[in-house]
Amino acid sequence: MSETPVKVAVTGAAGQICYNLLFRIASGSLLGDRPIELRLLEITPALKALEGVVMELEDCAFPNLTNIVIGDDPKKVFDGANVAMLVGAMPRKAGMERSDLLSANGAIFTAQGKALNESAADDIRVLVTGNPANTNALIAMSNAPDIPNERFNALTRLDHNRAKALLARKLEVNVGDVTNMTIWGNHSSTQYPDLFHAKVGGRDAGLLVDQIWVESTFIPKVAKRGAAIIEARGASSAASAANATVEHMHDWLTNTPEGDWVSMAVPADGSYGVPEGVISSFPCIVRDGKYEIVQGLSLDGFSQAKLQASIDELLDEKQAVTELGLI
Ligand code: NAD
Ligand code: LMR
Repeated sequence: MSETPVKVAVTGAAGQICYNLLFRIASGSLLGDRPIELRLLEITPALKALEGVVMELEDCAFPNLTNIVIGDDPKKVFDGANVAMLVGAMPRKAGMERSDLLSANGAIFTAQGKALNESAADDIRVLVTGNPANTNALIAMSNAPDIPNERFNALTRLDHNRAKALLARKLEVNVGDVTNMTIWGNHSSTQYPDLFHAKVGGRDAGLLVDQIWVESTFIPKVAKRGAAIIEARGASSAASAANATVEHMHDWLTNTPEGDWVSMAVPADGSYGVPEGVISSFPCIVRDGKYEIVQGLSLDGFSQAKLQASIDELLDEKQAVTELGLI
């Protein structure tokens, strides 16, 4: 008997992240050889470009891609979706902060939250990549009252990967030797990349680098990497963002590796003093498709102050979207 395809909905499907992401999903990076149906959402003027992307997907002859549905009506595209990757949103330009996109992008997520609530499958998991990702995820979650809150995540895996790679380059080790990295807070320049619980080849990372490098190089370089890419490329990160999106969802649907964790922006539950009502990045493990925030890590005064600054920003963003009537 053939397996029922997993219905994977992706928005912004004709955009630059999706030009990488869709091919990764279809070739097995998300679910190995499980059959997949892609359900692709775009705005009406981009549907023709999306038809071209669909032709290319077809021409790859991916054996596990059973069907592709496209459209500009979120309710129809999300119908029966088991997984939704909400990528479609305007990217920032040089000189902007991600929060500058709130008024332009926020409304997208009210409509999509409502549509997910009406038509997605009962086991739907939603990952928001479109910026400002944490607050957009909060908007979608708030507009989908019938879907459990914990099914809404936002992407900080790209920051997590950036932090691991930067530390590995500094210590001249393989990135695979770096584990237990953490991004706390918002996917923004206030995020707190925390290496004090990370391990490098089993040794404490904090003992291998000095505090000056952490404060003056590591934290700002990770937090401002997105802006550096925009300046160099003239466009925001795409392939690395697609990679992080697929990795986050893959881990969420399966398991994180034994002894390690990943950074996921999830609805806060009071852990580490982050108040309920915001979607914040935490160290998380996943077992059998359920994530848990890693408990019991100690944060010193420096780390607590960094986390607090990012929480304050998340609360400000929440206030702004409340005033815009989006939640
Ligand atoms: P892009 O402009 O190339 O593509 C965005 C696509 O979204 C466009 O094709 C557009 O037509 C579509 N779109 C707009 N409104 C839509 C709607 N209501 N429904 C469906 N589709 C819609 O942008 P991109 O480079 O692919 O980036 C997409 C978003 O991802 C941006 O907001 C960017 O800032 C963000 N991003 C986030 C991360 C992260 O780590 N969280 C990393 C990189 C980029
Ligand atoms: C990134 O981190 O690369 C993205 O969020 C794009 C941006 O605006 O920085």
